[in-house]
Amino acid sequence: MTPQHHRARLCQQLDSNSAIIVVGSPQRTRSKNQPYRFTQNKDFLYLTGFHEPDAVALIRPGHAQPYVLFCRPKDPAQETSFGARVGPEGAVATLGADLAFSIDEIDQRLPELLETRQRVLLGDEENRFTQRVWGWLNQQRGSVRFDERRHFRSMEPLAGLLHEMRIIKTDAEIAAIRHAVDAACDAHRAVMANTAPGVNERQLSMAFNATLAHWDCDTDPYPNIVAGGPRAMCLHYDENDKVLESGQMLLIDAGGEFRGYASDITRTYPVSGTFSEPQGQLYELVLAALDAAIAEVTPGAPWGRIYDTACRVMTQGLLDLGILKGDLETLLTEEAHKRYTVHKTGHYMGLDVHDVGQYRQADGAWRTLEPGMVLTIEPGIYFPDNAEEVDARWRGIAVRIEDDILVTHTGAENLSAAAPRTVAELEALVGSAPITRSVHVPSESALR
Ligand code: GLY
Ligand code: MN
Ligand code: MN
Repeated sequence: MTPQHHRARLCQQLDSNSAIIVVGSPQRTRSKNQPYRFTQNKDFLYLTGFHEPDAVALIRPGHAQPYVLFCRPKDPAQETSFGARVGPEGAVATLGADLAFSIDEIDQRLPELLETRQRVLLGDEENRFTQRVWGWLNQQRGSVRFDERRHFRSMEPLAGLLHEMRIIKTDAEIAAIRHAVDAACDAHRAVMANTAPGVNERQLSMAFNATLAHWDCDTDPYPNIVAGGPRAMCLHYDENDKVLESGQMLLIDAGGEFRGYASDITRTYPVSGTFSEPQGQLYELVLAALDAAIAEVTPGAPWGRIYDTACRVMTQGLLDLGILKGDLETLLTEEAHKRYTVHKTGHYMGLDVHDVGQYRQADGAWRTLEPGMVLTIEPGIYFPDNAEEVDARWRGIAVRIEDDILVTHTGAENLSAAAPRTVAELEALVGSAPITRSVHVPSESALR
């Protein structure tokens, strides 16, 4: 089982003077007594695989019973209303916990379970338990008789050690990511076929998620971005409620989440199914930047090379199109592209869509790529309507293309290659099965 393997690997890096405390997420309220759909803290999920709210894990390296879980107690009335709970007995029977207790007993039990361990690594992303943990660590020292041995304990963040582990994916994690990516590729294909003038972004957003369901995805890893025309200038637009018009491009940045693992894919294409000349020129440029950057992915390459490569291709392309003027090297030094490329070109991807882990070494230099890393590459070019310094034909066009890349022992694998991205593929697919139902809304006067 994967979480067991993760716990074992973490314990191998620590001695029996250490203890790990990792805190799961609470159930959050949407309004009144209506809960949000529960999402588990990803550090906690990585180490436990446990999906219930209000749980805390204690892991004791070198102990005969290393894994202790505090979870919600069984409660028939609550379970009738809100679903089954594993409960402490179930946690031992089915989750591999060596010991398990009700979360209500944590203040009494946890200090004792720490034994004499002096180095405590705490994973508590939202600081919900930090003050309490600090109290537990000092409890023994404050309460023992003057002639008993005191334990002077230290607390440090678990993130440093754990997030280094999370950067390199195991085969089982890669299998889950692959499934999340395959699901999203299928969903992108479905939405491409569904796209046409007159369709509402909301219809495409929901069509995307409907396809994810066919792949048993739990949810989407971030609010999908279905942005027609100028709305694509906003990098995290998620209103997804406007009608698409002929002549516009559609930018859709959307992924799936399978067993907690994310995918994150962007495609941009014309709503009508046919690129105009300037749309096609900018699209081909961003695609060339993406392909050039992917070609640089190999073990030992510095992270920064991906961005530098993409920016070099895009700057040369903007020169060739007459949008930038001057000398390539000077423009790169001045980062002249930045006004139009706006964002960096990728991030780690895993349990979190923007996954954990450092991009630089302690000395500030870029860290190098390693087999088992999974990352996105996502160059973009954006010409807002107020970019008066460029010819009018470029204004209003935004293109981002994003693929999910696995670093292999010999180079890279583009996991999201099945989501169409060449001009010919897109022109053949977009609008081939358009949604024809219009969105029904009551009249504004009825709502006044
Ligand atoms: N969808 C968020 C991102 O591409 O980083
Ligand atoms: Mn991304
Ligand atoms: Mn994205």
